[in-house]
Amino acid sequence: MCGIVGYVGTNHCAQLLLSGLRRLEYRGYDSAGIAIADEEGEVRVCRAEGKLQQLEQAYREDPFDGTIGLGHTRWATHGRPSELNAHPHRAGRVIVAHNGIIENYLELKKELTARGCKFSSETDTEVVAHLIDEMWSDSDQSLHDATRLALDKIEGSYALAVISTENPDELVVARYASPMVVAHGDNCAYAASDVPAVLDHTRKFVFLHDGDTAVLSQEGIAVYGDDGQPVEREVKRIHWDPVSAEKQGYKHFMLKEIHEQPARITDTLRGRVSVDRGEVNLAELNLDADKVADLDKIVFLACGTSYFAAQIAKYMIEEVARISVETDLASEFRYRNPLVSDRTLAIAISQSGETADTLAAIREAGELGATTLSIVNVIESTIARETDGVLYTHAGPEIGVASTKAFTTQLAAVGMLAIKLGRLNGTLDVEAARELISALRQVPAELETMLQDTSQYEEIARQYSRANSFLYLGRGNQYPIAMEGALKLKEISYIHAEGYAAGEMKHGPIALIDRNLPVVVLSPQNSVYEKTASNLEEVKARGGRIIAIGTEGDDRLDAFSDVVISLPEVPEFVQPLVSVLAVQLLAYHIADFKGTDVDQPRNLAKSVTVE
Ligand code: AGP
Repeated sequence: MCGIVGYVGTNHCAQLLLSGLRRLEYRGYDSAGIAIADEEGEVRVCRAEGKLQQLEQAYREDPFDGTIGLGHTRWATHGRPSELNAHPHRAGRVIVAHNGIIENYLELKKELTARGCKFSSETDTEVVAHLIDEMWSDSDQSLHDATRLALDKIEGSYALAVISTENPDELVVARYASPMVVAHGDNCAYAASDVPAVLDHTRKFVFLHDGDTAVLSQEGIAVYGDDGQPVEREVKRIHWDPVSAEKQGYKHFMLKEIHEQPARITDTLRGRVSVDRGEVNLAELNLDADKVADLDKIVFLACGTSYFAAQIAKYMIEEVARISVETDLASEFRYRNPLVSDRTLAIAISQSGETADTLAAIREAGELGATTLSIVNVIESTIARETDGVLYTHAGPEIGVASTKAFTTQLAAVGMLAIKLGRLNGTLDVEAARELISALRQVPAELETMLQDTSQYEEIARQYSRANSFLYLGRGNQYPIAMEGALKLKEISYIHAEGYAAGEMKHGPIALIDRNLPVVVLSPQNSVYEKTASNLEEVKARGGRIIAIGTEGDDRLDAFSDVVISLPEVPEFVQPLVSVLAVQLLAYHIADFKGTDVDQPRNLAKSVTVE
């Protein structure tokens, strides 16, 4: 995600801003910028596409400085990576850096343009700068007043830092559904989207709440609640070292990203679903009823964990849209002379958007006449740019090589796509769509509940981490989760594991069952529960050790299982988004207990850009 750093005080701040942005580099970004006001209120802005060295080079060519400023590293969500789209953005007297998604920016932009505003970027953030500048109509208003008036018109998420030419001694910040902290210094104050940016200068942090704004000056920090009234927020002393601060206190990036999943799923759904209207808005895919009616099939192309997301998509789409779905390992598709026509919709799923096999496969599908779409996390990545339409997940940069939040946001995306296709194909009525959308919206809260206490996984890790192999079993939409769980365990703990369709166990793998082979069975209560329960009994009868992952309150599992991991009860459509958290945590804690390099496992790369 983007990074923000701000300063107001008695010292010149250019180097502080640049070093603060360096501390936020791990978050991933594609452009950066700083803005500084001098004592007369003259504000200079320097921005550059690419990495911080490009920004530092541009700054060195035409240096400037002052005692109030803000810096930003951008992870593009609206508008390609470019100098013009880099933050900070300026409109009249106002300069803004922003993290988050302004859902109603297009309508605001249209209104502002109609009132004569000129835009220079494709971003949603520039709308905020114009809005604040426009709201700042009375001379007796402060920058803070104008900012709050503008925020009243904004829908979406934001961490905002604002300075101006008119109030050059005040830095205003605001926070809603995107992290922002402020911090006290000696005759100065700091703002940051994340602690590491300013941890070298202060340990006295105030974590703003959603709806808070704050005014920072040399004199200190004044915080205001969502009602606009002054509010006291606790000052917390942070004792992390800078490296652990980048992981926000988590031991590994992977664990941090596992815990980020509720927020990232919320971000991916944000602005795209309406429970009341039973609608999913995926305008970026340019799908309509005629196109859908003319389809002979959909084929998903992906690799690794993204391929398992494709398999979940098959269950979802065939269930609610009644359209034939094929899934193909991209590395197989491209070499088997595939059957594709101009009535085929080919969809690539890729976190990085750069996976060589997936890129080659989607290119071939397009050459064979298919309409191509992609579900991608990295904005403007090659696969995103080369397909006819792209649905971006908003997982933010995924640092851990083992994919977690990218996967669950992919599942949220394919869930929305299935609902959209069902509505367009006339196979899903509004009421049923409302239920499925509501189920998707319910997931983040259920995951938060599961994440409140993960101590059971540490105990399981202590008991099972010496096993030489694991078998994962699942049926229906839990079968791909069984395979994903096995992949997670393999890639971070180096323990062999195999994911298998539970119904296939008796066709061979049952020969493996004994006390030395832990069997993880994904058995939430659903349409295939009774069949899966029979598999549990078959494993038990042969002396197998079972780790059952089932619906909370299902006492029946206790009879067969050595360990039961309970999942919250959710509709079958979204059960994969919940059960995958259990297998992610299982793999993580076993690997952590073994002491392997969880974030950078041996032999693996985050993006496999070679065949
Ligand atoms: C997942 O944990 C792995 N890191 C790997 O299987 C990954 O999913 C695969 O390489 C595909 O990457 P992509 O999503 O960036 O295309």
